[in-house]
Amino acid sequence: KNISLNIDKVAGFVSKETIAAYAPQVKACIETLENGTGKGNDFLGWLHLPSSITAEHLTDLQETAQVLRENCEVVIVAGIGGSYLGARAIIEALSNSFQWLQEKKNAPTIIYAGHNIGEDYLFELTEFLKDKKFGVINISKSGTTTETALAFRLLKKQCEDQRGKEMAKKVIVAITDAKKGAARVTADKEGYKSFIIPDNVGGRFSVLTPVGLLPIAVAGYDIIKLVEGARTMEALCSNPDTPFAENPAAVYAATRNALYQDGKKIEILVNFQPKLHYVSEWWKQLYGESEGKENKGIFPASVDFSTDLHSMGQWIQEGERTIFETVISVEKPNHKLEVPSDEANLDGLNFLAGKRVDEVNKMAELGTQLAHVDGGVPNMRLIVPELNEFYLGEIIYFFEIGCGISGYILGVNPFNQPGVEAYKKNMFALLNKPGYEEESKAIQARL
Ligand code: PA5
Repeated sequence: KNISLNIDKVAGFVSKETIAAYAPQVKACIETLENGTGKGNDFLGWLHLPSSITAEHLTDLQETAQVLRENCEVVIVAGIGGSYLGARAIIEALSNSFQWLQEKKNAPTIIYAGHNIGEDYLFELTEFLKDKKFGVINISKSGTTTETALAFRLLKKQCEDQRGKEMAKKVIVAITDAKKGAARVTADKEGYKSFIIPDNVGGRFSVLTPVGLLPIAVAGYDIIKLVEGARTMEALCSNPDTPFAENPAAVYAATRNALYQDGKKIEILVNFQPKLHYVSEWWKQLYGESEGKENKGIFPASVDFSTDLHSMGQWIQEGERTIFETVISVEKPNHKLEVPSDEANLDGLNFLAGKRVDEVNKMAELGTQLAHVDGGVPNMRLIVPELNEFYLGEIIYFFEIGCGISGYILGVNPFNQPGVEAYKKNMFALLNKPGYEEESKAIQARL
């Protein structure tokens, strides 16, 4: 059994024929990816990454993870954007929701830093770490990203001060470029264990490189199964000869582009499992950074239901009709909990007695789907048998190749992110970074 896509509830908005008419174009896009003849073709390393990961590489990652697991109560994953969202998405999807509060832990607590410049966040983090045996995974492809470099500077010093230079060397790992960037220079000089982010894999496509795999292994999850899931989807979705209707990523890319042409400018990724919150954050980066260029692209948004049915639900039901939903629907929960019967029935909930909580959730999901379709919101469902490493691996690859195909249908280069530089340039000019003298003068004149 694999993840699958159901687009039945799109039919009232764009017809199945309209979507099927994309088949030749989608096939051409997959061939373009395969042949490496399209835009951004120097960043296609993710396409056959799952099938090219070797057992030795996975063992190396697991052994390094074990060193951190044995020597740390807390491990900080320092990274931003593609250098942290994939790891966080998978770790949170697999973790106990209350692991923070559990006294007995069988893996280090994973904490994230380097993805903001909040002084209070960093202050509170350093306070929290004061009595902790902690390690750091410093992740930056460029090795020069300010947010991450700033957090790492603080964490490195604190780790060395608290644990001594020798132990710090053991529990700090760098994941960065093979040659360039400050993170590489530091790792080589300090003698940290390091892993390389391949040149041809962009940040938001890097979760199956050490960027995602090492933190996921440190958190105690099975990276072999994760890669297996991704391989399964790679075999199915990257093959141009897979019939259109049997390739879920092809159908997804075609459907969302057909909806976009029909005026649906916003795609909302929906979950009914709070653990999937960061899968949505990862997906938003993947699609937002890949498609939002040349003044076009679907705006990727996300909600956690049923929580957000009590906030964004109103807008989705009755606001501007420019949205569609893609629901990640998990078929089977990992635990069983039934609603108890209550003799007094003061809350009037005895009609639910004996039912599983998930049955209530599923009826909320179905009821929401019907209500939103009635309200003019097309609805796709990505059906996931259960939340485990294998299916999360399938989800990763499904969305990655869906994004590559979709970006090519849209006509943009899905693998660059030139727009991300604009804020950096201004920030460096405002902070008088050496080399930005002209920009500093120009920006000061504007203030
Ligand atoms: O997808 C991307 O390329 C970006 O989001 C990067 O991952 C992010 O900017 C972090 O870059 P770096 O890994 O160079 O620190």
